[in-house]
Amino acid sequence: MSPKLNLQTTIAGIDFRNPILNAAGVWCQSTAELDTLLTSSAGGAVTKSATVKSRLGNATPRLKSLPLGSINSMGLPNYGFQYYLDYVTKQQATDQHNLILSIAGLSVADNLTMLRQIQSSDYTGLVELNLSCPNVAGKSQVGYDFAAVADLLATIFTFFDGKLGLKLPPYFDLHQFDELSAILNQYPLAYINAINSIGNGLIVDPLTESVVIKPKGGFGGIGGNYVKPTALANVRAFRLRLNPTIKIIGTGGISSGQDVFEHILCGADLVQIGTALGTEGPAIFERVTNELSDLMAAKGYQNLADFRGKLKTL
Ligand code: SIN
Repeated sequence: MSPKLNLQTTIAGIDFRNPILNAAGVWCQSTAELDTLLTSSAGGAVTKSATVKSRLGNATPRLKSLPLGSINSMGLPNYGFQYYLDYVTKQQATDQHNLILSIAGLSVADNLTMLRQIQSSDYTGLVELNLSCPNVAGKSQVGYDFAAVADLLATIFTFFDGKLGLKLPPYFDLHQFDELSAILNQYPLAYINAINSIGNGLIVDPLTESVVIKPKGGFGGIGGNYVKPTALANVRAFRLRLNPTIKIIGTGGISSGQDVFEHILCGADLVQIGTALGTEGPAIFERVTNELSDLMAAKGYQNLADFRGKLKTL
């Protein structure tokens, strides 16, 4: 990296030396995986979305790599909330602050329980409330129910004063961005993360005339290259509508420095890699960081702020 380049970015006072993290769910279920991320070239790490109690997740096969991305229906396999809260708290005690604790309660009550426990714990870092997992049978994605999101935030901010972000599903109609932004702008959110996978896609294998994953009759979240245009549109649409104090994490279709550049150009403060991390492993962070640095150097940019959100329109 050229000595003049600075990839540093900040969310709610938490500094990240570069803006590229894993996406919740990939390489972050165990503390060993999280340790690997923290010693890689990643800018930090987000934990697997935790439920109150540990879960084995859905039946296998539940993840399939595809030529243009992936389909998954993992079903939130995780070691339980306390396991991840202990990990991030321990890291914080050693001055490692570039972590995000992700939670995905199976009910409103579960989410409030976990947030109350965080509020009364020593952990003061970023928390990502996942409102968008499409893979638990019988549970719909809260992020598509705006009245429920409004109620939830109203309750949360009666007692929670930590650094809260929301992981959102992809939206497809401009009125959705208008309506949801009007709700989100009422609260001191640290950030939103756009997007989770495109939920309930279906991949068909014509040879076997079958679906490719077992849970939910083959329906699952689509990630990777398939979703990049939708992810960029969500980052851009929210950046144009949200208060500048609400930062944006761009997730979806990132496998190169150019992809990171495009997300930041649309307004992302930080980005996360899911599908491509799953196939390439943590070495991807060094490659993508170098590619981003080379691209910035070629364009004469020294900081992310030089081009963040500066997408031109015709
Ligand atoms: C899963 O565990 O099913 C994936 C998590 C998510 O999509 O939020």
